[in-house]
Amino acid sequence: MILDEKHIKFREKVKQFADEEVAPRARQLDQKCEFPWDLVKRMGELELLAIYLPEKYGGAGLDTLSYAIAVEEIGRVCGSTGIFLAAHSSLGIYPIYIAGNETQKRKWLIPLAQGKMIGSFGLTEPNAGSDAAATQTTAKLVGNKYIINGTKCFITSGGIGDIIVFTATKDPLLGYPGISAFVVEKGTPGFSEGKKEDKLGLRSSVTSELIFEDCAIPKENLLGKEGDGFKIFMQTLDSGRISIGALALGIAQGALDASIKFSKTALKSGRPLYKNQSIQSMIADMATEVEAARLLIYQSALLKDAGKPFTKEAAMAKYYASTIGMKATCTAVKIHGMFGLTNEYPVERFMRDEKLMEIGEGTSEIQKIVIARQVFGK
Ligand code: CAA
Repeated sequence: MILDEKHIKFREKVKQFADEEVAPRARQLDQKCEFPWDLVKRMGELELLAIYLPEKYGGAGLDTLSYAIAVEEIGRVCGSTGIFLAAHSSLGIYPIYIAGNETQKRKWLIPLAQGKMIGSFGLTEPNAGSDAAATQTTAKLVGNKYIINGTKCFITSGGIGDIIVFTATKDPLLGYPGISAFVVEKGTPGFSEGKKEDKLGLRSSVTSELIFEDCAIPKENLLGKEGDGFKIFMQTLDSGRISIGALALGIAQGALDASIKFSKTALKSGRPLYKNQSIQSMIADMATEVEAARLLIYQSALLKDAGKPFTKEAAMAKYYASTIGMKATCTAVKIHGMFGLTNEYPVERFMRDEKLMEIGEGTSEIQKIVIARQVFGK
């Protein structure tokens, strides 16, 4: 896809940051499960934490396409840094941007955009994963406070989040109309981090359980109106799926780049590996599929920026990019042979990191439900 000069320049800026500052750290971050606090600070300085947000809320005032390009470029070298950026921007910031009132926006968006606060998104529960409307966490209004009880799980940046946008219901029997969206601030009594997950991939991003025990949050922390929560979260996920697609794409591009480099330098029977037609065939498939995923992702970003419906296209982009991304990273390991299984090369990390893209922000099966409902017009 031909990008205009503005987007080409923006990509160059992010690419330089990714290659010079993120890539050299990626292997160690993964091995030590270290959260990249310094890179978060740098992304704040470079105005990468809230790319699409208007300047009056501290954002860079750019578009969704720029945001997708940034996640792609960072994901190309480090999935963990990429997932932090996607979760912070799409899931921590976006619901406040679309549903918050002016006071809430001024209070939280500016520090989130500057990296002075980390944002997170609490939807998933032990019994409400793909079925997001099955939320069991309750919110009871008592005086001017909501009393929250329940558990959220697998929350990206949950344990390190300064604020978490989360869902809770007035009554689990009400289904989706009972669900509201709230913001809880770190340090609120009754709110704590539970189990921290030890994951297959994205090992330097923090994934935690969050526990609410008679946690009283101010009434002012309700986003939108009571009962709006499910739809706010669905809209947030529509948008977030563009960035998860972009991250899946970036990791796949990283695997492709590594495979090209390896097959040019490694020798088989005295000839560079790439002279072998079966390697050429694998690389051709990877390159074609990566380019097709890029078109779907950029198209969904352009639709969103044009104010047109993009639910179906974002689900397609996420579904396709994560599917071909998993295939590409597995192929990259295969091309590297035994070297591919070692952490001397980045491809095993890419393969581990890519797996989340088929699961987080809605599994591939959920994306197909979303696409089919749009296709059939439910
Ligand atoms: N935008 C706005 N409104 C929407 C919407 C959307 N995209 N999707 C649905 N709605 C509305 C519907 O129109 C309907 O409203 P009306 O009754 O007024 O028409 C209401 O919401 C209920 O919709 P459905 O009947 O379609 O809801 P459902 O219960 O059948 O669920 C689902 C739909 C798409 C399967 C949804 O449950 C879903 O997306 N599940 C996956 C959840 C998910 O992605 N979880 C990931 C967690 S976050 C994460 O992973 C982040 C991380 O940290 C990695």
